[in-house]
Amino acid sequence: MTIRAVVRGVGHYLPARVVENAEFEGKLDTTDEWIRSRTGIERRHFAAEGETTSQLAIKAAEAALADAGLNAGDIDAIVVATSTPDFTFPSVATMVQAGLGNTNAFAFDVQAVCAGFVFALANANGMILSGQAKRVLVIGAETFSRIMDWADRGTCVLFGDGAGALIVEAAEGTGTAADRGILASDLHSDGRYRELLYVDGGVSTNGRSGHLRMQGNAVFKHAVQKLAETAHTALEKAGLTPDDVSWIVPHQANLRIITATAERMQVPMERVVVTVADHGNTSAASIPLALSTARARGQIKAGDLIVTEAIGGGLAWGSVVLRW
Ligand SMILES: CC(C)(COP(=O)(O)OP(=O)(O)OC[C@H]1O[C@@H](n2cnc3c(N)ncnc32)[C@H](O)[C@@H]1OP(=O)(O)O)[C@@H](O)C(=O)NCCC(=O)NCCS
Repeated sequence: MTIRAVVRGVGHYLPARVVENAEFEGKLDTTDEWIRSRTGIERRHFAAEGETTSQLAIKAAEAALADAGLNAGDIDAIVVATSTPDFTFPSVATMVQAGLGNTNAFAFDVQAVCAGFVFALANANGMILSGQAKRVLVIGAETFSRIMDWADRGTCVLFGDGAGALIVEAAEGTGTAADRGILASDLHSDGRYRELLYVDGGVSTNGRSGHLRMQGNAVFKHAVQKLAETAHTALEKAGLTPDDVSWIVPHQANLRIITATAERMQVPMERVVVTVADHGNTSAASIPLALSTARARGQIKAGDLIVTEAIGGGLAWGSVVLRW
């Protein structure tokens, strides 16, 4: 008998305020046309004043619990992937736990920036396979609008706020790639590339939360190469090929990166979930948001083989292969 971490429920939450590209035109030397053609982004959501990452995460978690037909008390571990926590500590995950009214789960945050959800999901899988947890609530939640430099047109038009949540639970499998659940993962980091994408503030440096800084062009090149590589590796580990893939659910940073990665994997765009136009880059929230949106659109169905892949600051990157 093989234990698998199988998806039991999914949900998401987006803040009410929608910001169209045109809103930036009056404030910056940019155009809707430039943003659309270079990134595929048309609009994004921004959290309201006082609306925090944990609040977004709790709403996404409630949606996932409702989808799964579970109560908060049925969860025995909560992992939140975020780089924009409410406070330096405690973790957003413990705030989600309290907000949901759960007292029996252990809860902690994972910080791998835009790759955070993939890292969190791979860790949830490990906890389930090792018997540490039976049912894990994995959330990606971000308020990147809080770390934007609004004078930097090369970054502030790219990001958005939101949260997505997935519940995975232990189930018996056969040990073959036909099983439902997480079949393989592949994680990488290379700290030599810190300067390419970072936030210029922090507790032990200058005591500020800081602003996001990025060498977009260099990140773009790493993304296109590394994402296809990690997705291939994870598929290989699962004993599968790109032909077996029902859906690539990529990190939603830039449509050109998404398209180039799909091309390298030789998967047609009809089998790629794209939400970047409406959400922008929501960092660790983007993949669970895309999974939940794709399910609502009727794109993802039970039995579909899904590859998620993401890269972000660190650099950190990776992928997870799962059967829905
Ligand atoms: C940021 C990004 C869209 C820029 O596109 P690009 O085609 O690489 O553009 P460049 O950075 O080469 O900049 C080209 C020009 O556009 C300008 N530009 C940048 N942002 C602009 C904006 N919002 N509006 C208009 N012009 C802009 C630059 O200043 C530059 O002008 P210059 O040639 O006069 O110096 C692109 O590099 C990208 O998406 N990179 C990956 C970023 C990402 O997804 N990061 C997150 C990963 S998790």
